[in-house]
Amino acid sequence: MEREARDGGRLTPPEMLGDSAAWRDVLRSLARVAESGLPVLVLGETGTGKELVARAMHTLSPRRLAGYVAHNCGATPDSLIESELFGHSRGAFTGAVADRPGLFEAAHQGTLFLDEIGDASPLLQMKLLRVLQEGEARRVGEIKLRRLDVRVVSATHRSLAEGVERGGFRTDLYYRLNAVRLRLPPLRERGDDALLLAAAFLRRAAADCGSPPPALDPELAAHLMRYPWPGNVRELSNACAYAVKVAGARDVVALEHWPEVLLLPGTPAERGLHAETRALEQRRLREALDLSHGNKSQAARSLGLSRQGLLKKLRRHGLGVPEAAAPTLDGPAAAQ
Ligand SMILES: Nc1ncnc2c1ncn2[C@@H]1O[C@H](COP(=O)(O)OP(=O)(O)OP(=O)(O)O)[C@@H](O)[C@H]1O
Ligand SMILES: [Mg+2]
Repeated sequence: MEREARDGGRLTPPEMLGDSAAWRDVLRSLARVAESGLPVLVLGETGTGKELVARAMHTLSPRRLAGYVAHNCGATPDSLIESELFGHSRGAFTGAVADRPGLFEAAHQGTLFLDEIGDASPLLQMKLLRVLQEGEARRVGEIKLRRLDVRVVSATHRSLAEGVERGGFRTDLYYRLNAVRLRLPPLRERGDDALLLAAAFLRRAAADCGSPPPALDPELAAHLMRYPWPGNVRELSNACAYAVKVAGARDVVALEHWPEVLLLPGTPAERGLHAETRALEQRRLREALDLSHGNKSQAARSLGLSRQGLLKKLRRHGLGVPEAAAPTLDGPAAAQ
């Protein structure tokens, strides 16, 4: 379960960088939609900022003083869904040692972010539909109905419309979640934003190491503008963190510091295939790490890789901190 703490101290929207026309459109719609209180479905490729936007939707809305709760819809087994969503009373089942509110109660008068809604099981879909229709529910083991006033923001990187067509996703729930749709553009359609974001991420990563902000070598800048960014802003942010480590104390970050797999050779068509393969590999790596809660040996086993093999792939994707690469680095930062 993912559960955000009440919003104390987090009433300012998260930093959402970007100055392209496409991104400014998003920010304009975001401000308007946040006010409206309508259910919103946020769509976009992986790493485009869906979670960030969901949080901003809350902090820009009249509900900002109440709770913001995030839940990953693929994460809870069916047997726990009811108690997860609606809570339980002490003794309602074995292991229910205390009264506990559910996600909806925690988000009462606030916002519930349903992440990866496309992964919701039929049971979860049914429970969600009912509580959204009725605006009330009871904790497991209680008779009392509680009123629940919750604004739902959901997100998915897959096509829900396709899910509806194939029959895996309920049409009635689809229409309920989908009063407003906000589509986040992929980074490759955001003009110069890749450069603006790269500068910010390099500055941040350098500051974390106590270094001044490095400059971006023109060749690398040109590459950032050509690259298709299958992992979008997350991929760029990871790559910048990696490059700052590799560049050490140098004041310019250049192609030679950039993660190898993000430098694609070949024709545009080959690059397209490369990019797809890489995006798939990256997704599988992230899923395996999520499932193993970051345990690399377990993740490696689930992928049929050796631990070394996994570490190598993680480094090549600029995922995770490249500690194991440190001995091969030069410059003062590597010696720390
Ligand atoms: N406009 C932005 N400005 C600054 N940081 C951003 C921006 N967009 C995304 N990020 C950062 O990029 C990372 C990925 O964003 P986020 O988790 O919101 O993506 P997502 O669309 O939910 O991805 P996924 O589908 O994989 O869950 C986060 O670390 C986020 O803070
Ligand atoms: Mg997300």
